[in-house]
Amino acid sequence: MNKEKKNFYITTPIYYVNDIPHIGHAYTTIICDTIARHNKWLGKNVNFLTGTDEHGQKVEKSAINSGLDPQSFTNKLSKSFIELSQKLKIINNDFIRTTEPRHKEAVKNIWNKLEEKGDIYLDKYAGWYSVRDEAFYSEDEISENNNGEKIGPSGSILEWVEEPSYFFKLSAWQNKLLEFYKNNPDFVSPKTRYNEVLSFVSKGLEDLSVSRTTFNWGIEVPNNDQHIIYVWLDALTNYISGVDYPNIKSNKWNNFWPADIHVVGKDILRFHAIYWPAFLMAANLKLPKKIYAHGWWTVNGEKMSKSLGNVVDPFKIISSYGLDQVKYFLLREVRFGQDGDYSEEALIKRANSDLANDYGNLAQRVLSFIYKNCDKKIPVANKLINQDIKLIENMDKSKDNIIKFMENYEITNALEELWKVIREANSYIDSEAPWSLKNTDIDRMNTVLNTLCVVIKKISLIALNFTPDGANKILDQLSISKKNRSYSNFDDTLENATIEKPEGVFPRLEKK
Ligand code: MSP
Repeated sequence: MNKEKKNFYITTPIYYVNDIPHIGHAYTTIICDTIARHNKWLGKNVNFLTGTDEHGQKVEKSAINSGLDPQSFTNKLSKSFIELSQKLKIINNDFIRTTEPRHKEAVKNIWNKLEEKGDIYLDKYAGWYSVRDEAFYSEDEISENNNGEKIGPSGSILEWVEEPSYFFKLSAWQNKLLEFYKNNPDFVSPKTRYNEVLSFVSKGLEDLSVSRTTFNWGIEVPNNDQHIIYVWLDALTNYISGVDYPNIKSNKWNNFWPADIHVVGKDILRFHAIYWPAFLMAANLKLPKKIYAHGWWTVNGEKMSKSLGNVVDPFKIISSYGLDQVKYFLLREVRFGQDGDYSEEALIKRANSDLANDYGNLAQRVLSFIYKNCDKKIPVANKLINQDIKLIENMDKSKDNIIKFMENYEITNALEELWKVIREANSYIDSEAPWSLKNTDIDRMNTVLNTLCVVIKKISLIALNFTPDGANKILDQLSISKKNRSYSNFDDTLENATIEKPEGVFPRLEKK
């Protein structure tokens, strides 16, 4: 490996295998894939980890309901998440399953470390538990629904649990955590989520129950097989078992831990921003650099649920509308970090206006004109005048802005910036009107077309990280070779290349 190369480690949450994947899971994965692609494009050595969270009561219950033993059940469901990764064409380096031996070893190792350091003690738990969230809630977080059932903050139904349990001394880490947040104000993003975490911890932390005894499906506590390790302690450990922990001599571990970013949904922030750093501090391991909490998607204004029958199947919509279109919609429609509403109408509208009309049309207008009128060759530029120089300069400035935005994980801003140039390039075609120069000023026409090809190439090099299929096709049509599509090729000059027959890359969509 090139020693100069900067390492970058990004993770998705690992997905519960209690049910098949939906659009919410695809969303988290798409965000991570986009960030991973961007960093790889910049030339970094990227490790992108995703996987499945297969233990715990929730998964065990689903297995029982489906009539399968938990291992066969999780094998089947985990496969559908692997298939989703493939359908999304993500560039992950690894897919971790918590039922794998490498993961179990890491979890037991962490447990032993916490125990040896006196951070784990045996007692009894009596309190409320949400199987859906796999979370313990304290009295002040509990309310009642219309049927008089106890519910947690997420609305999930709670059950009373009373059983022997090991506890992690979370309360002892409260001040250390607060100090850490204070010294690392960017640890949690967006800022509103950081403030939420800070206020939760400031109110005081109770010790955390980290083992269960009333079901079997999980990793046994070392030296006490009556207890199963709490599924969140198990699951969070994937972020280090996925980079070879406890083998701290491994290159992977040394290159990639601590992670640059864990992307999570806002619903699982507490586990990542409070419990995980506390476990790591207690185990004397470094903390991840950032937790980014994204928002939630509703569907036509309603929460997605099986009972409402409105669960959006990512496989289906990708097959109907295209991968780039779905990805672009999810990334662009809502600001990263905020909640959003999914509807097919909104997806179609967004894809048609930004992909078909703006980006696709820009490439198609220019390339088909060259194909028909310039002997299929990108014309050579003559003297550039102000408007040509301005368009290219603005493109280059936007590229720098996009890199800055992406460094701060401002994906929506990055896309807005890219589309600013796309729209500017479309206006440039209208004002420079190369078709009207065909019989009057061939030199000027060639310069305009060349300038446009330069800008379309630059746009597409950036778009590769967001809409890779379409951007790659446009770069193919421009005869840019596959090996010359990274950040370091951004300023390469265009050759007098023969272009391929242009084909529309982003077709106009209609409701299916
Ligand atoms: N297994 C845990 C994570 C353990 S990580 C150590 C879990 N799994 S999950 O399958 O329930 O959720 C995984 C991700 O999908 C979360 O980031 C969650 O926010 C996201 N989404 C699930 N439904 C969603 C929406 N409706 N909208 C957006 N994202 C949502 O939690």
